Amino acid sequence: MNIETQKQNRQIGMLVQDFTSQVVDFYNHMETQPVCHSVPSETLTHLENQDIPSHGRPVQTVYSEMLRDVYSNTLLIQHPRSFSCVPSTASLLSWMGDVMTNAYNPHASCQVNAPAPDLIEKKLIRWMCDLAGYPASGGGLFVSGGSIANLTALTAARDARLTYDERSRAIIYVSDQTHSSVAKGLHIIGFSQEQIHIIPADSRFCMDMDKLQAAVKKMFPIIKSLLPSLHPQVRQTQGVLIPLQIFLHFAKNMTCGFM
Ligand SMILES: Cc1ncc(COP(=O)(O)O)c(C=O)c1O
Repeated sequence: MNIETQKQNRQIGMLVQDFTSQVVDFYNHMETQPVCHSVPSETLTHLENQDIPSHGRPVQTVYSEMLRDVYSNTLLIQHPRSFSCVPSTASLLSWMGDVMTNAYNPHASCQVNAPAPDLIEKKLIRWMCDLAGYPASGGGLFVSGGSIANLTALTAARDARLTYDERSRAIIYVSDQTHSSVAKGLHIIGFSQEQIHIIPADSRFCMDMDKLQAAVKKMFPIIKSLLPSLHPQVRQTQGVLIPLQIFLHFAKNMTCGFM
């Protein structure tokens, strides 16, 4: 490596050390800060008027500008008095883990490239499956965020429960509290808006089971015509509210799934 690059790497290392002590101070005294910082209009004007430079600027200049103009002018959602529903970095431990992993950026695409990270991922997933009560055949993978997690789970559920031909006839019941990324994921994997049926939530923000049963009952003649060989217990309930147990039985035996 040439001398100039080595010099710059050392400078970056010093800035990261400085940043680390600033972050620790920031977290240790966060409660003395306001939750919301209003951005001075000059800061936004300054940022707006900046052109993308044809040559990179000195790293120290950019570092100072990021601290002064960018990070310090945001809503502190990790603040103890912030009532935001989506928490930021839960603790400095998760920050530390991210920093370390980013620095080494292990290529965990296969076991040969990164055997130790691969082993840790498998062990953690098994541990989480056990916590959730999944069988030994359960498995999974870590993904980068909520939207991609929902997309992955919806794809797995679709492939586990529906044949290719059945996809266009499937109905997906979601509560009115369901995150918008679920509808987005369903759209990406080929379901239409009409296939998504929204069930109101109850006072605890859970899907209202009575309303779910009513919605399923409304679809019952259509479902029945599509699936002629219903369980006798289900056949008898036609025309009355289907008790949830029967619906679950129905779901278990038919092309339904829960997630
Ligand atoms: C319940 C839920 N699902 C999905 C998401 C989307 O997550 P991401 O922004 O990581 O894609 C969020 C984040 O707001 C969420 O709260």
